[in-house]
Amino acid sequence: MQKVDFLVIGSGIAGLSFALKAAAKGKVLILTKVNADETNTKYAQGGIAAVFDPETDSFEKHISDTLIAGDGLCDRKIVEIVVTEGPDRIQELIDYGTNFDKHGSEYDLTREGGHSEKRILHYKDITGKEIERALLEQVSKNPNIEILTHYYAVEIITQHHLGIEVTRETSDITCFGVYALNVHTNQVETILSKVTLMATGGAGNIYSATTNPVIATGDGIAMIYRAKGRVRDMEMIQFHPTSLYNPGEYPSFLITEAVRGEGGVLKNKKGEEFMQSYDPRGSLAPRDIVARSIDAEMKKSGEDHVYLDISFKPKELILQHFPNIYEKCLSIGLDISKDMIPVVPAAHYLCGGILVDEYGHSTIHRLFACGECSSTGLHGANRLASNSLLEAAVFGHRIAHQAMEDVDKISFQENVPDWNEFGTEQSNEEILVTHNLREVQRMMSDYVGIVRSDFRLERALRRLKLVKDETEEFYKKTKLSVKLCELRNLVQCAELVIRCAMKRKESRGLHYTTDYPYKLGGKPENSVL
Ligand code: FAD
Ligand code: SIN
Repeated sequence: MQKVDFLVIGSGIAGLSFALKAAAKGKVLILTKVNADETNTKYAQGGIAAVFDPETDSFEKHISDTLIAGDGLCDRKIVEIVVTEGPDRIQELIDYGTNFDKHGSEYDLTREGGHSEKRILHYKDITGKEIERALLEQVSKNPNIEILTHYYAVEIITQHHLGIEVTRETSDITCFGVYALNVHTNQVETILSKVTLMATGGAGNIYSATTNPVIATGDGIAMIYRAKGRVRDMEMIQFHPTSLYNPGEYPSFLITEAVRGEGGVLKNKKGEEFMQSYDPRGSLAPRDIVARSIDAEMKKSGEDHVYLDISFKPKELILQHFPNIYEKCLSIGLDISKDMIPVVPAAHYLCGGILVDEYGHSTIHRLFACGECSSTGLHGANRLASNSLLEAAVFGHRIAHQAMEDVDKISFQENVPDWNEFGTEQSNEEILVTHNLREVQRMMSDYVGIVRSDFRLERALRRLKLVKDETEEFYKKTKLSVKLCELRNLVQCAELVIRCAMKRKESRGLHYTTDYPYKLGGKPENSVL
C-alpha cells in the first residue's frame, strides 16, 4: 500500500499542469496506463487558443466566439475565467520551455473554425507533442513528482469499499485513493491519497472512427459514475470534420483545422466548393456545422469522403506549417501541394464529462477532475477549436491552488481493504473482449453519430444492454486485464452518451436529431446523470 498527498491519474496536459504546481506543497504520484507521453495531448495538432495580439483581438471577442460555438449551453462565468486566465497559463508553458512558432519576435498566430481572429499559438502541426515534451521534462526535474507508467487505475476507493452503502443521493461520498493494476506484476495495488485528480482524457474509442489514440477509453468518467458521482452533457460528442480518409487505419489521422485556417477549402469530387451553401462562414464555420454539412454532402453524393484542398497555396507555406501532415500524406501516395486530401469526419472530442465546479471539484469529496474527462461548462454544446488545451492548463492551475489549501486538513483513511479478487479465474477468452468492443464501436457509429433519432438511440441502448450484461458477467468471473476494464468503461460511457442524448428533446450544437430538428426556447438545460 502506498500513501501520497496528491494522486494524479493521467499524464496529459491536465495531469502534468496540476502536478507541477501541487508539488510545491507535497508529494505527487502520477499513474499512467502506458508510456507517460501516450496521451491525446501528444496528438494535438492545431494549437492552443488565447488572446495574444491586443491590437486586433480582445477577451470579449474570444468569449463571444466560445459562446457562439457552444450554442447557448456554455457557462458564461467559466468562459470568462478560461479566456482571461489563458494568456498567463500559456506564458507558463513558454516558461517551462514550450516552443511556439514565431514570425520574427511575434508569435505566428493562426486561425481555426469559429474564431473571429487569428489567436492560435502553434508549433508547426505538432503543438501537442511539443507541449507534452516540455511538461514531461519539467516533471522529470522535480523531486516531488513520481510517475508510475503502466499502472492502470481500476476503481476509485470510497465508503462503498468500507461496506457502507453509497447511492447517487449520498451527499458525502469521499474518495480515499484508487485501486490500480500494476501491469508489470499483474497485481492490483491500493494507493491512498489525501487528494485525487482525475485527468484521464476523453472517450473517442466508443466509435469505430476516431482521431483519439487507443488510450482514450473514458476510464475516469466511468469510474466516477460507478462510484455514484455525477456526469454532464455526455451527448455532446464532437466529430472533427477532417480526418484523413484512409480505410483500415485506426485511429484516424487528423488533418488539422489550421489547414482551413490557412486558406484550405472543402470540395466535392468534382472539385466544387460546397460549404457556402450550408453556412456563410464556409469551410471555417464551427465544427458541428462543418461536420454535419460534410455528412449531408456525402449522403447526397453517395461518396464515402469529401476533399480538403490546400494545393493552391505555396509549397513553402505547406512545408513550413504542416510538415507532419505533408509527410503522412506522402507516405500514402498523396502530395498535398498538388493533390486534394480525401477527408471524412471522425469522433474527436467529448465536450461533456465529470461534472465539476469552477475549482474543479467533482461531486465526490477529495476528488477533482481536469481536462477532457471533466465538464466545466466551457464548451457547452460544441467546443471552439483549440480551447481544450487551454481549459486543461487553466483548470490545472486553479485546481492545484485549491488542492494545496485543502490538503493540510485531510488525513489518510484507515482500514481500507485490499482489492478482492476472490472467485476470479484467468480468462482464455480474451477474443470476446475484442468482439464486444467492435460491436459497441460499430453500433455507436451507426446509431449515435452525427445525425440521431429516437428510434436509433433506442435501438442502440437495447443492443448495448446485452453487451453490458455480458461484460459485467465476464468482469466478475475473470482476473483483471486492462482490455477488459477498458471495454467495461467504454460500454459505460457509451450508455451515458445515449442516455444523455435521449434526455435532449431538441437539436443543439453537436446533438442533432431528426425527431426534434429545432432548438427549444428559453434557457437550455444541461443533461445531468
Ligand atoms: P490526455 O492528454 O488524453 O491524457 C490522459 C491520460 O490519462 C493519459 O496519460 C492516459 O494514459 C491516462 N489514463 C487514462 N485512463 C487511465 C487509467 N485508467 N489509469 C491510468 N492512466 C489512465 N485540443 C486543442 O486545444 N488544440 C488542438 O490542436 C487539438 N488537437 C487535437 C488533435 C487530436 C488528434 C486529438 C485526438 C485531440 C486534439 N485536441 C486538441 C484535444 C486535446 O488534445 C485533448 O482534449 C487534451 O489533450 C486532453 O488532455 P488531458 O490531459 O485531459 O487528457
Ligand atoms: C485541429 O488541429 O484541428 C484540432 C484542434 C482542436 O481539436 O482543438
